[in-house]
Order: sequence, then C-alpha cells, then structure tokens
Amino acid sequence: MRQQVDVLLGAQWGDEGKGKVVDVVAPDYQVIARFQGGPNAGHTLLFEGRKHVLHTIPSGVFRPGTKNLVGNGVVIDPVIFLRELKALEEEGVDTAEAILLSRRAHLILPTHRALDAASEAEKGKSKIGSTLKGIGPTYMDKTGRNGLRVGDLERGDLRTLYDGLKRKHERLLGLYGDLPDLREAEEEWMDAVRQLERIPRVDCEHYLDEALREGRSILAEGAQGTLLDIDYGTYPFVTSSNTISAGACTGLGIPPTRIGRVIGIFKAYCTRVGSGPFPTELHDDIGERMRQAGHEFGSTTGRPRRCGWLDLPALRFAVMVNGISELAMMKADVLNDFGTIRVCTGYRVNGSLTDRMPYTLTDDVEAVYEDLPGWGDTAAGIPAELEAYILRIENAVGVPVKLVSTGPDRAQTILRAPGVTA
Ligand code: IMP
Repeated sequence: MRQQVDVLLGAQWGDEGKGKVVDVVAPDYQVIARFQGGPNAGHTLLFEGRKHVLHTIPSGVFRPGTKNLVGNGVVIDPVIFLRELKALEEEGVDTAEAILLSRRAHLILPTHRALDAASEAEKGKSKIGSTLKGIGPTYMDKTGRNGLRVGDLERGDLRTLYDGLKRKHERLLGLYGDLPDLREAEEEWMDAVRQLERIPRVDCEHYLDEALREGRSILAEGAQGTLLDIDYGTYPFVTSSNTISAGACTGLGIPPTRIGRVIGIFKAYCTRVGSGPFPTELHDDIGERMRQAGHEFGSTTGRPRRCGWLDLPALRFAVMVNGISELAMMKADVLNDFGTIRVCTGYRVNGSLTDRMPYTLTDDVEAVYEDLPGWGDTAAGIPAELEAYILRIENAVGVPVKLVSTGPDRAQTILRAPGVTA
C-alpha cells in the first residue's frame, strides 16, 4: 500500500487535548507536521511531572528522532517562536535537529498584532474574542497577496519588504486611531528573525513528497477545532484558517489522495473561548464545576473557557466535514463526580426539532438533551457507565472511539476496543 499521511485535528472549538494525543502517538510517526494556525494555539503536554505548552511547534518535539515540520499553512510570530525554541533548548531538545520551517509560511509582524487589537476594539460588543496574536490580519495579508514569508528572510532586502508592509499597516491603523509605539517590538522582531537562522528551512511540499517516497510515516497536526474553521465554523466567530482535514492538504502541500486516517479529538463535554454561539453552554454551578475540575482556562490567554455538555449534532458535523475515521475522547475524568451526564442529541430551531447543524448556530438554537448516569471514577479504567456513554456517542456519530484519556499525563491514556467500526 502507498504510504499515507494521517491527520489529527480538533472536532469541537479547540482545546480538545490534541497536543497530548500527538505526544502519545508520536512514537508511531517519523514526521509530525503542523498545517495551520499560529501562536493562537496552546498545546499542553504533561509528562514526568512537568508541563510544557507549545504554540507553534508540533507536539512531537519531545520524542527523540521525530522531525517536527511547521508547514506553509501556519503563521509564525518570530518572537514567540524564538521563546518556544529557547524553552525547548533548556529542556535539552536539539531544536536544529528536531524542527523544520516551511519557506512558504507567513510571518506575523508587530503591526499585525496591533491591527488585530484595533479591529477587536472597533467591533466592541460584537468582537470575535481573538487571542490578539495577529492571526486574522496575517492571513488577510496572505490572501491579499501582501504577506512576508519565511523564505523572504533569505533575501537581502528583508528590511525594505518589512518597511513597505509596515507602512501599509500604519495607514490602516491611522483609520482606527492613534498609532501605537512599536519600536521596541520591532527591534525584538528583527533580533528574533536573525536568531531563527539556526532552524533549517525546507520546501515543505517537496520534503513531505520525499518522505512519502521513502516510506516515512507522517502525522499532520491541526490547531484550534472544526467549529472554528473559517468556512465551516460558527462564522464570523471563528479563526482565519481551515482547521478541517482539507487544511492539511493546502497547509502542507499533500495531495488529497495521500490522506489516510483522520483522527478527531473531542472532550467528554464542550468548551469554547471567546465569543460566538454555544448551544450547550452552562451558565450555572455545573458549568463552573466543569471549569474548575477541567482547569478550563486558556493556555495562551489565561481566559476562563465557557463550558457545556457534549453536543452530538456538532460532533457528527465534525465527523462529516473532516471524514473522521476514528475519535479520541479526552478529559473523561473531569466528569467523574457528576451524578448525571447530559448529552445534546438535537436542537430546537424556531419550534422544529433537528439533529443537523444549521447554517448558523444562532443564539436561539436550543439544545435538546438526553440524560445518562454518571460513572464515578476512572482510576481503574473505563467503568460500565462511561462505556455506555461512549457507545451512545459512537452510535450517534458512526465512528469508533479508539482512545480515552482519563488525566493529563501521558500515562493516563486508555486504548479502547471500539463498539462500532468506521
Ligand atoms: P484568533 O484565531 O486569535 O483570531 O481568534 C479567533 C477565535 O478563535 C477566538 O474566539 C479565539 O478564542 C479562538 N481560538 C483561537 N485559537 C484557539 C485555540 O487554540 N483554542 C481555542 N480557541 C481558539
């Protein structure tokens, strides 16, 4: 059989625990390639009692021998990237050996961050709740054909290119109000760019093509989640990239015919950071208990995450648009102390029942629930009630749940014999 690229992505609104699963399955792969997003992501890994948060660098970086490729679909802030490199080097990771950068990846400038902040401030109450890392403005410059790319760092006229784009941004910022003083940020950016020299740059489409020809195993790692996808998410409350499996093709230069398994990561409940509709959101003590038990505070911004019950129509939608072949359920242990577990099986929209994700998830979409018994404790494995909950999910979405996570550590991971086949 021809070598395939497996894809791992979020099936909800991000923060599903993708980093942990990538780290767990990384020994099966020789190359881990991030295909979209940027430092808006925060992938948390915990092992040997230590916590590590990655923003731009793929989560296979702690597994010796693994190549970690930052693909062309990713947007890179050199300052944040350098900070990540330094933290990894302090942990003994040989970054020049473990990490590769795509020349086609776009760069986030300090003025992109300023534009992100100005645009959000202008939106007022209808703001997206952006992470303010400059993601939207950088992707806008990419599609507007104005962007700076990693490959431009090899040119002698980087400063001229930078100044040209900065001037354009300053004109835009002038429309929003006073220009922020970015001199310090700019110096830091230029210094970071120089220090990025130590990371090898590749044409990622050729690199991966060769890797496939050599029979090397590749995992494409997504960031954020399906419901934050620019096309299929809860627009306009989304991020600015394609978080779905199709994004792995454009974000890495892989042909669709080479995609193999598509692994969807979801939590036993739902969370969302920032604004936008969330039909199963809990505004009561139960939501607060979930937030505390699940430590649901953003790993990039520290913001409290909104919490709610699992939404099956949304999960089925994620299975559909991504072609998910198997699921991994995360944070089952967070619901251990809940006597009753609710699961959303459909929506009531304008008085009619539907189990289909509507064109827009407006605030008047009301979730319809089914109640299942709680499971108590996951310390000794998967209890019968949790198994029943998982079977209910498998039957609703039609794909197997092959992995269940019962805690943040690598070791708290159960490979499960699924109840359905894909
Ligand atoms: P941006 O990607 O920073 O522009 O933010 C757009 C929306 O996506 C906001 O609601 C963010 O909170 C959300 N978002 C961006 N990145 C992540 C993530 O990694 N996890 C969860 N939500 C995210």
